[in-house]
Amino acid sequence: MNKIVIAIDGYSSCGKSTMAKQLAKELNYVFIDSGAMYRAITLYFLRNNINLNDSAVVENALQHIQLQFAYNIAEGKSDMLLNNENVEAAIRSMDVSNNVSAVAALEAVRTFAVAQQQQMGKAKGIVMDGRDIGTTVFPDAELKIFVTADVDTRVQRRLKELHDKGNTDISFEEVKQNLLSRDYIDSTRAISPLRKADDAVLLDNTNLTREEQLNIVLNLVMERASGK
Ligand code: DC
Repeated sequence: MNKIVIAIDGYSSCGKSTMAKQLAKELNYVFIDSGAMYRAITLYFLRNNINLNDSAVVENALQHIQLQFAYNIAEGKSDMLLNNENVEAAIRSMDVSNNVSAVAALEAVRTFAVAQQQQMGKAKGIVMDGRDIGTTVFPDAELKIFVTADVDTRVQRRLKELHDKGNTDISFEEVKQNLLSRDYIDSTRAISPLRKADDAVLLDNTNLTREEQLNIVLNLVMERASGK
């Protein structure tokens, strides 16, 4: 079967990464969580008090950032490295979540991240999830999926993920506000806003189990990889 490029986009916490990770495992493809790159850049900016309104400062800071993915066998996915430091846990904090959409809206940041993402897709056999993968990063991807789910379902899933990681002092409302605010900034920003590509398949997974969702997407992959 031909190796293809699979672009998965959608709102915050609607299970894009879970789906992309499962799919990559089934197909023996590379999985890239593009949001982790924006989160790592945000972590660097927060640690170094970078003023987002000063484009020269932002450009200079980006020159000091090296992003890499390192495969974590136990997790079955890659961890994000920021200048050789494993920041996989740090980039999931509420502090990063509350600031990442503003950072990801900056043109210099997007140019920096998109160039690296496009490089990773050159060999095909990749599943990348994010907000602009089907529209900007891989507009020619053979399969594009736009995932969505009911907002309260997304909040419950995100809360469970945070609780499982020992983050128990965050309320439903706090998580909901963060998701809604990120959805708003991500879909209204000037550069590469979150939107469904015209040729993307819309998948609402509110009432789907992970297995049902995986089967739907695997069938789509079979079709596209055989050129249908
Ligand atoms: O997928 P995530 O929630 O970890 O992404 C974090 C933020 O990064 C999200 O709120 C918007 C931004 N992002 C983006 O602008 N473009 C992408 N391709 C991926 C993420």
